[in-house]
Amino acid sequence: MSLTEPLFKVTPPGDGILVTTSRLRCVEPRPSDLELLQKVFGDPAMMVLLGGTLTNEFIQKRLLDWQVSWREGKSLCGIVEERQSGKRIGSASIHPSTVPDQSGAEISYMILPEYQRRGYATEISRGLIDYAFQVMKLDHLLITGNPQNEASQKIAKRLGFRCLGETEYVHPYLNNCTKHTIWILQRQ
Ligand SMILES: CC(C)(COP(=O)(O)OP(=O)(O)OC[C@H]1O[C@@H](n2cnc3c(N)ncnc32)[C@H](O)[C@@H]1OP(=O)(O)O)[C@@H](O)C(=O)NCCC(=O)NCCS
Repeated sequence: MSLTEPLFKVTPPGDGILVTTSRLRCVEPRPSDLELLQKVFGDPAMMVLLGGTLTNEFIQKRLLDWQVSWREGKSLCGIVEERQSGKRIGSASIHPSTVPDQSGAEISYMILPEYQRRGYATEISRGLIDYAFQVMKLDHLLITGNPQNEASQKIAKRLGFRCLGETEYVHPYLNNCTKHTIWILQRQ
């Protein structure tokens, strides 16, 4: 299953803003976000539980894919912006499931180290969940994470996701990332 799975089709927000929370926004990616994504996907510390860093070439392709897929409504992989400072500090996404035997959509989040542990990933995820259930009318959402990723497990639990267990498969967009815990949230 890919990030452009045909079952996933959404009208992208006209103003380029996917989610607004009290401190953050998740917005459409633009070409100048390359530097941010290089910090996110090119930093060994950020990628330690995600199979290692991605090459610059791959990051460039990923940004382009995010921009095209957003415009075509095939995935909504956005940039997290601090409302007060206007700084772009990570990414947050609603995209087709990357889990081979699970259909539907998944949310993902990455927050730069200097902005971590402020509740930002949890806050933007709540916004993504509201968007997915209220606007996109999805039945359920997934979160996947390395079983050793304590922060990701805490976020999933806190947001009310139920653990489906651990499984192994090759992640379609990450290097050497094979072990995954899968979490699910059903729309109420
Ligand atoms: C995972 C990540 C997105 C969390 O972002 P964040 O904004 O710091 O998360 P929050 O502040 O919302 O914290 C959520 C919980 O995780 C905890 N946490 C955050 N970083 C942690 C860490 N490195 N180790 C253990 N727990 C951590 C927080 O304390 C909080 O738990 P608490 O409410 O019980 O205190 C961020 O660490 C990151 O981008 N990591 C690298 C990429 C990654 O692993 N992405 C997730 C892929 S599934």
